[in-house]
Amino acid sequence: MKHFNIALIPGDGIGPEVVAEGVKVLQTIEEMDPEISFSFTEFPWGCEYYLEHGKMMDDDGIEKLKKFDAIYLGAVGYPGVPDHISLWDLLLRIRKEFDQYVNLRPVTLLNQSLTPLKSKTEKDIDFLVIRENSEGEYAGAGDWLFKGKPEEVVLQTGVFSRKGTERIIRYAYEEARRSNKTLTSISKGNALNYSMVFWDEIFEEVGKEYPDVATYSYLVDAASLYFVTDPERFEVVVTSNLFGDIITDLGAGITGGLGLATGANVNPEKKYPSMFEPVHGSAPDIAGEGIANPIAAIWSVSQMMDFFGEEQWGKRVLDVAKDMLAETELLTPDLGGDASTGEVGDRFVKRLREKI
Ligand code: NAI
Ligand code: MG
Repeated sequence: MKHFNIALIPGDGIGPEVVAEGVKVLQTIEEMDPEISFSFTEFPWGCEYYLEHGKMMDDDGIEKLKKFDAIYLGAVGYPGVPDHISLWDLLLRIRKEFDQYVNLRPVTLLNQSLTPLKSKTEKDIDFLVIRENSEGEYAGAGDWLFKGKPEEVVLQTGVFSRKGTERIIRYAYEEARRSNKTLTSISKGNALNYSMVFWDEIFEEVGKEYPDVATYSYLVDAASLYFVTDPERFEVVVTSNLFGDIITDLGAGITGGLGLATGANVNPEKKYPSMFEPVHGSAPDIAGEGIANPIAAIWSVSQMMDFFGEEQWGKRVLDVAKDMLAETELLTPDLGGDASTGEVGDRFVKRLREKI
């Protein structure tokens, strides 16, 4: 019997709406598999909590989360609380304190009808972006000098440590080797003459230990073009924090939008809990209407099961998502349907039960 202890942070806006559907899926897995059980503990942290308590999470929040096997998060951020506060004081705090230095973002087309790219099929768009998640351009280093004066200067410093750069690149080589795929590094050594030259050097250096892995190296601007013109070039991709953030939104754009994009924040050593979340935000424009697409959040459940070593469940959940998208009559409005969040979740669970 395997037991997994899961912390729920539904967060703001549509976060709670989509996390509820993901929890339904987890509970169904528990029901169907006598070898697996879960316990859930919910934390009320987010922007509402901030407005009431003046902080995004409890002072000992990190301590409280430490004992969990995984964190399942909805979305954080809402009008009324500045985004840099909600992001830095909750989401980025968890990513940093728990050293979740790997961000895994699949760019996988689940159904041909979902891509705006003419003539591209499921076979052409199927890759994994591995984004550095702990430092780089989002290290938060810099200064704001002579504020408000004519000589005002702002510095935003990228921080690329040898340890941080090496470990993400090594992780990517390992993943490419394990899955027998090519590895593409995306950087910008021509313009960023310190950080990205360093990145490229380490990519080559570590690569010497992986002569069996075929590699490519693209500048981020060229890579953005290829995402659209020939996505079939990519299998496993490794890139920095900022570039990864941007190109995975492009990845979402070519695979059906934010309602389908997911990301895992992983501490591979399992010293701390890892965190699973849809890529999208709290969507204030549709929050409370019950029409948010829950499939991105449910895909996070698939990633969580993979991470737990229960790959058969990870695959089964993803297969049901494919079936649902092929079936098309029960989809949320962002995908052209008129179903509610709850209806999609209920149908999902029903299909999962039927899929033995
Ligand atoms: P957003 O992702 O919340 O929404 C962008 C657009 O996509 C909206 O039109 C929204 O309706 C639509 N959308 C997003 N998810 C959807 C879903 N599951 N189903 C159907 N439609 C969906 O991004 P936005 O508007 O820039 O940010 C809103 C708030 O969320 C901000 O406070 C921002 O800081 C926060 N945010 C939080 C993230 C996180 O918690 N990881 C990530 C991105 C934004
Ligand atoms: Mg983003």
